[in-house]
Amino acid sequence: MLLTLDLCLALHTSLVFSKDFGLLVFVRKSLSIDEFRDCREEALKFLCVFLEKIGQKITPYSLDIKNTCTSVYTKDKAAKCRIPALELLIKLLQTLRSSRLMDELRVGELFTKFYGELALKAKIPDTVLEKVYELLGVLGEVHPTEMINNSDKLFRAFLGELKTQMTSTVREPKLAVLAGCLKGLASLMCNFTKSMEEGIA
Ligand SMILES: *[C@@H]1O[C@H](CO)[C@@H](O)[C@H](O)[C@H]1NC(C)=O
Ligand SMILES: *[C@@H]1O[C@H](CO)[C@@H](O)[C@H](O)[C@H]1NC(C)=O
Repeated sequence: MLLTLDLCLALHTSLVFSKDFGLLVFVRKSLSIDEFRDCREEALKFLCVFLEKIGQKITPYSLDIKNTCTSVYTKDKAAKCRIPALELLIKLLQTLRSSRLMDELRVGELFTKFYGELALKAKIPDTVLEKVYELLGVLGEVHPTEMINNSDKLFRAFLGELKTQMTSTVREPKLAVLAGCLKGLASLMCNFTKSMEEGIA
C-alpha cells in the first residue's frame, strides 16, 4: 500500500514538473499573454500546495522552479501573480534549507535582485513589498554564510522601514509592509542576532 502511494506520488511529481508539458512550462510560456494571468496565478498557488505535500522530493526540480519564480516576478507586473511567485520561492528555499543544493540556488544573486527592488519600493504595491521583505529575511535564514556581507544592510532596511511606518504623523502605517518587515526580521535573526544588537545601539 505504501509502495503504491509512493509510486503514485512520484508519477504525479514527474507529470507536474515535466520538461515538455508540465506546469512550469505553462507558467513560463504564458508570461506574455495577459489573458492567462488568472491561470498563472492558480498554477503558482497549486505548486505551492503541491510542494508542501512532496517536501524534499522537489529537489530535482528546484532550479527550474526558482528560475520560473524569478521570471514571473520580472516579467509579470501584476501583484496577483507576483505574490504567489514569491510565496512559492520562499517555500522552496525553506524546504531545501541546509541541503547542498542551496549553493546552486545562488542566494547571493537572489539577494541582489530583491534588495534592489527596495530602491523602487514606492512603485511596488504593499502586498508585493510584504513578500519581498519576507523573502529577503528568509535568505538569511536558509543560507547565512552567503549573507554574511549583506546582513547589516538588510537589518538597516528592515529597521528603517519599521521606523518610517511607525512614526509617520501624516498617515497610517501600511500593515502589509509592517508584517513583511517583522517576518523578514524574525527570519534574519535566526542566524544574525549580533548585528541586530549593534543596529539598535
Ligand atoms: C564577504 O566579504 C569578504 C571581504 O570583502 C570576502 O572576502 C568574502 O568572500 C565575502 N563573502 C561572501 C559570501 O560574499
Ligand atoms: C542558523 O540558525 C539555525 C537556527 O537557530 C541553526 O540551527 C543553524 O545552525 C544556524 N546556521 C549557521 C550557519 O549559523
